[in-house]
Amino acid sequence: MKTFDFGIVGLGVMGRNLLLNMADQKHAVAGLDLDAEKVLSLTQEANAQHQIKATTEVKEFLELLKQPRAIMVLVPAGKPVDTVIQSLLPYLDKGDILIDGGNTYFTDTDRRFTELSAKGIHFFGMGISGGEKGARFGPSLMPGGNKEAYERLRPIFESIAAKVDGEPCVEYLGNGSAGNYVKMAHNGIEYGIMQLISEVYDLMKRGYELDDTTIQKVFQDWNNTELQSYLIEITGHILKKTDTDGQKLINVISDWAKSKGTGKWTSQNGMDLEVPLPTIDAAVTMRNMSKNKPERILASAKLVWNAEQGNTDLPSAIEALKGALHFSILITYAQGLALLTKASQEYNYDLNLETISKIWRGGCIIRSVALEDFRKAYAKNGELKNILLDDTIAKAINDNQSSIRSTVQFAVQKGIPIAGLMNSLAYFDAYRSEKLPTNLIQAQRDYFGAHTYERIDTNGTFHTEWND
Ligand code: 3PG
Repeated sequence: MKTFDFGIVGLGVMGRNLLLNMADQKHAVAGLDLDAEKVLSLTQEANAQHQIKATTEVKEFLELLKQPRAIMVLVPAGKPVDTVIQSLLPYLDKGDILIDGGNTYFTDTDRRFTELSAKGIHFFGMGISGGEKGARFGPSLMPGGNKEAYERLRPIFESIAAKVDGEPCVEYLGNGSAGNYVKMAHNGIEYGIMQLISEVYDLMKRGYELDDTTIQKVFQDWNNTELQSYLIEITGHILKKTDTDGQKLINVISDWAKSKGTGKWTSQNGMDLEVPLPTIDAAVTMRNMSKNKPERILASAKLVWNAEQGNTDLPSAIEALKGALHFSILITYAQGLALLTKASQEYNYDLNLETISKIWRGGCIIRSVALEDFRKAYAKNGELKNILLDDTIAKAINDNQSSIRSTVQFAVQKGIPIAGLMNSLAYFDAYRSEKLPTNLIQAQRDYFGAHTYERIDTNGTFHTEWND
């Protein structure tokens, strides 16, 4: 009794795998789940060296833990988290630490933090990325909130996190709900990159009519270039997989893309903070578009475009696709990092973008070689307003400009939807425009609503009687 270092509530895939990861690192871990089958399957998976005990009883679970207790809740975000907290609360003591490891909306974490600190319970949210495998063998962990409480558990988290150059992919990120917020932005970037990869895949398949084996080989090869990343790597694996009949599995997977909300939250919060995230917005929109299958079938017969056939030099076309993807992926990161920069001021998170780039280099879904360049950029200049302003990143972007432009032209001509690629280019062209046509919008607003405008030649606020 009271000999276990850590407790996990919720023994679904993530909870079970994190628990086993901790047990591998010689921590004694207790698990709680109301589902007896999950408890049994964890017990069966444990080996003789593991110090694991799992139960379906709240009181028994809490009795197992050393005091002050450290408990992580890994249940679906929303009401289930509150339900678990309510079930634990009567038995918790002052000084106990509760961690929400799910994809919780950050304002929920702020609310729970306030409610629980009034009772003397240290609560914090921690983003966890890496999926099933990451949780088991080394995720990227994004803790925020009470720093002292985190410090008490730091050795445990450092031991289970992914390592890059010997450094653990976990570090305290900032105040309040910083951990959940950073994970939300991580997922927004993830949505953007996944969308971009799918568009480039579409351009290869429908645009250039490459066969499945060639497409697979291209993605596999790209993973040995500046595009090296987890998402490119798994794309190569996915395109290789055959079904029971020997055909490529990808070709029989429905195009109806689902989501659990973190991408949408990123876009919504980007709007609230007035940070442009057009690639991420497009990614969310395209998942929504994908759900509209019956209508798309109708439209595909009615709204027709006959693309011209052209001669294509395939090697240079593929090189252009690679450049376009590289360009757009960098733009997606730039949007997500710009969101974090603004959110840090807005919510007093005090985020350090160098630290975030560092802990995203391994374990998480958006890990890529680019993250090391970002880390270096922020190490050089912690005040960097946008990662595109760093010389190394600006050069990579500029070097790929002609590729993104020719790729967008090709897709437009072919009638292939590339909302992510197009929006990445639009973001870039707008961001580098000293002058935008929004002066006309200001004039229109003043015309119909007397909303006033500012002038470039003198200070003050002006209104014009446009009709006289
Ligand atoms: C996850 O948290 O499982 C993924 O990173 C995002 O999930 P989604 O694509 O289902 O929203």
